[in-house]
Amino acid sequence: MPVDAADDMKKRAAAAALAAVAPGMRLGLGTGSTAAHFVALLGERVREGLDILCVPTSERTRAQAEALAIPLATLDEAPELDLTVDGADEFDSSLRLVKGGGGALLREKIVAAASRRFIVVADATKRVETLGAFPLPVEIDAFGARATRGHVERAAAALGLSGEVRLRSRPDGHVFVTDGGHLVLDCAFGAIPAPEALADRLAAIPGVVEHGLFLGLATAVVVAGPGGVESLGR
Ligand code: 5RP
Repeated sequence: MPVDAADDMKKRAAAAALAAVAPGMRLGLGTGSTAAHFVALLGERVREGLDILCVPTSERTRAQAEALAIPLATLDEAPELDLTVDGADEFDSSLRLVKGGGGALLREKIVAAASRRFIVVADATKRVETLGAFPLPVEIDAFGARATRGHVERAAAALGLSGEVRLRSRPDGHVFVTDGGHLVLDCAFGAIPAPEALADRLAAIPGVVEHGLFLGLATAVVVAGPGGVESLGR
């Protein structure tokens, strides 16, 4: 699908999710190009007088929201959120997600877990039968990164999964560092038929800070495709 068409669908999904926002809400703001469309549209509503308080999931989103004069708080100041709207790299029919393509998975998961509702906005290319076409991001501590990578590879192998596990780098070749000061492994395991089992194993590895499997968190996915916008869940 051409990039422009995909971006138009991301914007339509973001616009549809705006209907879930009500005055007085405390909102989590996701990270990535689809979430950025949502933040831009929300900024217009704030300019028109919408009263909300938002918690951003990354420094990038914080900067965008600040520039739009969207009222912001930290999650410590607003620990219980009504709604979070965020993108995803993949979702399946059970609303299970792979996230972290933008490297914000740790804060995204913390914010999603603090929200009563978590709406994912996505274009139709993100829908998969089985998670894993997108390399799974795993955020790790820099200390002992090679040892942790070995643990990640062995945890996957125990479930019959293999594939390249790469330390993420930035376009300029420097190592990618998250807002929390951690590194990211991109794990090209291919299809992950048992995401819960992999999530459990990854979470048990000491150097793993968080992984990009978001299971049981999304309450809805608003997906825009060539035929229109569809909502899965609520
Ligand atoms: C960032 C994320 C993003 O939500 C995910 O990568 C999707 O990004 P985009 O909307 O740009 O396709 O998880 O950590």
